[in-house]
Amino acid sequence: MSDAPSDARRSLQRNSVRTSIDVDAVAKAAGVVLDLRDEELAFELPGRLFEQLPFAVYVCDRDGLVLRYNRCAAELWGRAPKLRDSDERFCGSYRMFRPDGSLLLHHQCPMATVLRTGISVREQEVHIERPDGSRGIALVDIEAIKNSDGNIVGAVNCFQDVTERKRSEEQIVNLAREAEHRTKNILATVLATVRLSHSATSDNLKQLIEGRIDALAKVHTLFVESRWAGAELHRLVTQELMAYGGESKVRVRIDGPAVMLEPSMAQTTAISLHELATNAAKYGSLSATRGHVEITWRLTVDRRLILRWIESGGPTVTPPTHRGFGTRIMENMIGQLRGEVRFDWRDQGLTCEIALPLA
Ligand SMILES: Nc1ncnc2c1ncn2[C@@H]1O[C@H](COP(=O)(O)OP(=O)(O)OP(=O)(O)O)[C@@H](O)[C@H]1O
Ligand SMILES: [Mg+2]
Repeated sequence: MSDAPSDARRSLQRNSVRTSIDVDAVAKAAGVVLDLRDEELAFELPGRLFEQLPFAVYVCDRDGLVLRYNRCAAELWGRAPKLRDSDERFCGSYRMFRPDGSLLLHHQCPMATVLRTGISVREQEVHIERPDGSRGIALVDIEAIKNSDGNIVGAVNCFQDVTERKRSEEQIVNLAREAEHRTKNILATVLATVRLSHSATSDNLKQLIEGRIDALAKVHTLFVESRWAGAELHRLVTQELMAYGGESKVRVRIDGPAVMLEPSMAQTTAISLHELATNAAKYGSLSATRGHVEITWRLTVDRRLILRWIESGGPTVTPPTHRGFGTRIMENMIGQLRGEVRFDWRDQGLTCEIALPLA
């Protein structure tokens, strides 16, 4: 069984191991590009060095013409721009955006600023759009290259693709938010259970509350397994009915298509099944040795789940005059999800139909 919080922690640790870039060293190598008179050497020597680097790098001259870039840069840009092209100044990317989503024109990009000011840039986030429309997030480090007189002759940009890292950071934040929301929701249900459960003796009351909290705990385990995506209905039903014969088919028959319920629907369904099952064991078909229950479901074209609980073989049933916690919590929770619950007190046993709109 996976544990979401520690998975998230591991993922954070993994992603925080960032290749540290020695921009100064790269700038020295880049300086060779700008200094060497021998054009061929100037091109080949740092070029070979750059290809060994595990991150993207490119060099511009003082006018922003791209003199050299490595394969990692071309991969991130999704293109291989022509060198020294005056139409492609400051960066080889197709388009750039700021983290707030606004367009970042090439002459406004961090490389253009460094060439103008000489002030280094460290870990600035730039969103890159490739010609195919896909986007990547880069962290850029830029260092100006100056000649012996201190004049800017160019700059080197070392940048890393942090798209995956950003995505998993976002996932972690969403997971934490979902976990917080679920925890509050579960605690509210537990509180309501404790407040509204009644029984003649304290021992019975304890048992009743324990059973209800246990039903919540079991569905919670399914959420954790699916990293809070929800719970598979067949597993949820089987788990809840386990104590009454599970899928043994003698007392309980479970049948329906595969469907993943999002957490609030799964929680409501689990509580409802728990109340139906305990009622069946107290008053209905599961209180008789030959009685059984059938749980079936289907999905409608308008994306609703219709779950039917059909009891038979138990004592003759008459419509009840009393409404306890079971009936009220079911009506309440199902109503909150804009669903409906209908009880049909047939002589041969209770039939209950629950309709829930799928998210
Ligand atoms: N499966 C069933 N077969 C026959 N009668 C039932 C069945 N389920 C419920 N009833 C009747 O409906 C009544 C209301 O059920 P409900 O679950 O709301 O309350 P409860 O079970 O009496 O108490 P609580 O749920 O608060 O522990 C029950 O007291 C019982 O008379
Ligand atoms: Mg009950």
